[in-house]
Amino acid sequence: MEFDTIILGAGAAGLMCAAHCGGRVLLVDHAKRAGEKIRISGGGRCNFTNTGTGPGNFLSQNPHFAKSALARYTPWDFVSLVSEHGIAWHEKTLGQLFCDDSAKQIVAMLTGLCDSAGVKLALETSVEAVRHGPEGYRVSLSERGAARQVTARRLVVATGGKSIPKMGATGLAYDIARQFGLGLTETRPGLVPFTFPEGRFSALSGLSLPSRVTAARSFDEALLFTHRGLSGPAVLQASSYWREGEAISVNLFPGADPFARLRQARSEAGRRSLTRSLDALMPARLADFLASEWGLSGNLADQSDKALGALCERLTGWQLVPSGSEGYRTAEVTLGGVDTEGLDSRTMEAKAQSGLHFIGECVDVTGWLGGYNFQWAWASAMACAEAL
Ligand code: FDA
Repeated sequence: MEFDTIILGAGAAGLMCAAHCGGRVLLVDHAKRAGEKIRISGGGRCNFTNTGTGPGNFLSQNPHFAKSALARYTPWDFVSLVSEHGIAWHEKTLGQLFCDDSAKQIVAMLTGLCDSAGVKLALETSVEAVRHGPEGYRVSLSERGAARQVTARRLVVATGGKSIPKMGATGLAYDIARQFGLGLTETRPGLVPFTFPEGRFSALSGLSLPSRVTAARSFDEALLFTHRGLSGPAVLQASSYWREGEAISVNLFPGADPFARLRQARSEAGRRSLTRSLDALMPARLADFLASEWGLSGNLADQSDKALGALCERLTGWQLVPSGSEGYRTAEVTLGGVDTEGLDSRTMEAKAQSGLHFIGECVDVTGWLGGYNFQWAWASAMACAEAL
């Protein structure tokens, strides 16, 4: 047998696993370069982990599955690795750690570790077929058009999810899982902007403000109005909990009490129009938009406590039904994937198929926005690497 381990996918999880698993390793990817998503992540600075990472920051049909890997390889383990390699970093907000300089440093660190470990990297190489027999795993490859067969005792699938097909995302991991009888949970785009009927928020496009967005779960972060609909961290987070046809609730005053402020304004300047009195609470563009959307009229003095109360209920619980999401075209992650039921949580190995492992985003473990997805990629890769 030529290799001990063949790893499919030279993204975050595949590179991390290849760098640490030891033995003769072949790392295969159809892309021109390894770690392309790392390179563009975090606006080019890679939000490589989150210091607050815990199992509660992930969505999965089995919320317990990720616990073991996350506990054994923590954000501080990755921080040590990054620091050992002289990569300067900073905390932006909410425990999110970014490179000071460039995400390319993370790619260079991982590819450098792979080089030192003697990993053979086969780029621009597509996977034609995978078989298992007495000789272990036999993978048929097409390397820049030339057919090649490789064998190994172990096969690690790290080809990620379906997000951003333009960057080479495919459903290969799901096909291999199916081929070997593993279950799949429903896959959906996650961390994705919402779309609304054409022009709904055009007048507000580019406006960003603090908010609480709720879809089964609430997130207090920025909301961004766009030409196509709604985006920004609060919306991306909520999108992972949203189902087609459901309403989301937007609180434009998280942690504040607009009712008290409007009542006070009424007693101080009752002759001011209701719309213009909202200017003290929000950008005038938004006040105008809401006035026309909700038919607000009259002066403050005309508003009873009941009317102000009803307005504040809308301001803190604006119900909006997205027509959809931008889908895999822009989704940062894919929710769902290889059912954890069929995997050993300590090794990421298929319970019913010895030597076959699944790591990273292709597994039904999906993190929130904020560095959690890379932490899962590192942790699941290390759990697998230690078992190889
Ligand atoms: P990943 O997608 O990284 O790698 C899969 C690899 O498999 C790719 O190299 C691909 O080319 C290869 N492949 C796929 N199909 C193949 C096939 N059929 N044959 C051969 N090779 C194949 N997360 C985070 O924590 N912090 C952040 O800052 C960001 N930022 C961010 C920005 C953007 C724009 C996106 C799209 C995503 C993020 N993410 C993120 C999410 C993060 O990038 C993602 O969760 C990890 O890259 C997942 O790592 P994997 O190794 O599992 O897949």
